[in-house]
Amino acid sequence: MSSIRTVGRSLSRLPAELPPELRGPDWVQANPILIQAHLDRALEMPTGGWYVVDGSREIGARPRSYTIAGRELVAWRVDGELRIAPDACPHMGARLSDGHVREGRLVCPWHGLELGNGKHGAWCPLESYDDGVLAWIRIPDDQGAPTARPIVSPRPDTFLDSVMRMEAACEPRDVIANRLDPWHGVYYHPHTFKRLRVIGLLDDRLVVRVVYGFSDRLGIEVDATFHCPDARTITMTIVDGEGTGSVVETHTTPLTDGRTAIIEATLATSERPGFRGALKAAGLIRPFILRSQRKLWVEDAAYAERTYELRQAARRERNSQ
Ligand code: FES
Ligand SMILES: [Fe+2]
Repeated sequence: MSSIRTVGRSLSRLPAELPPELRGPDWVQANPILIQAHLDRALEMPTGGWYVVDGSREIGARPRSYTIAGRELVAWRVDGELRIAPDACPHMGARLSDGHVREGRLVCPWHGLELGNGKHGAWCPLESYDDGVLAWIRIPDDQGAPTARPIVSPRPDTFLDSVMRMEAACEPRDVIANRLDPWHGVYYHPHTFKRLRVIGLLDDRLVVRVVYGFSDRLGIEVDATFHCPDARTITMTIVDGEGTGSVVETHTTPLTDGRTAIIEATLATSERPGFRGALKAAGLIRPFILRSQRKLWVEDAAYAERTYELRQAARRERNSQ
């Protein structure tokens, strides 16, 4: 066990008696049957048909192409308002993301057809939503009835946000499963997690006590929960210690078969007086948050790709019998 010193608020003592499934070596606690049961429950959650496209800041007036759930889409803004539509021109199929916006209308690069907010033949903008941190699109799926707005877990009132997007060769479920296994933290990311203990295993959430290290000597200790507000998202919420109320939303968006975007929004908050200053310096702080998010996700994407690879191999094996 590391002799790291923690700064900030001390947490209460751990419960003297943890349930039997939270005792014993970490590799025993990381029970694949239990992780699978949590994953199965998460995958049944409704989504309202909403998919995260990207961080809000990434989409500007210039058209940008995205593939979401196998559909080629173009995203742009008119007077700051988000628009998302099929990326194929209704005339002869040119990529509209190669075009430009003129007086609020998307202009096709091949023959200049101008498209606005309404339908043109079979071409029609899709329902989209910008929650100020993330850009979303609604494509009805088989995860329950469409909802007017995305299903989002509670966010802090004031926060410093950063959004990381990364792609991995896996399915969304592999990314969620990775997050439902907190036991790997200290072994797989020793640079970041200095101590980690799962202290609660509820039906809909896991509770962990974790020490994030700033260095080998110094860290902060927090209690955090992991829960899935919908079938494609897992949210970590700090419930005690420094930054209580901060959330990390890990969203997974299927792109094509076996390819998934991991879009992670960190919404950090603090009651410390210096936090107002931090908000003013958000532009300077954000790259540091992004760097540590990315470092963890390079490793976790490899974990998710491995579980996908194993599942595919098992599927091939079954099909060949
Ligand atoms: S393909 Fe777009 S105007 Fe012809
Ligand atoms: Fe991890």
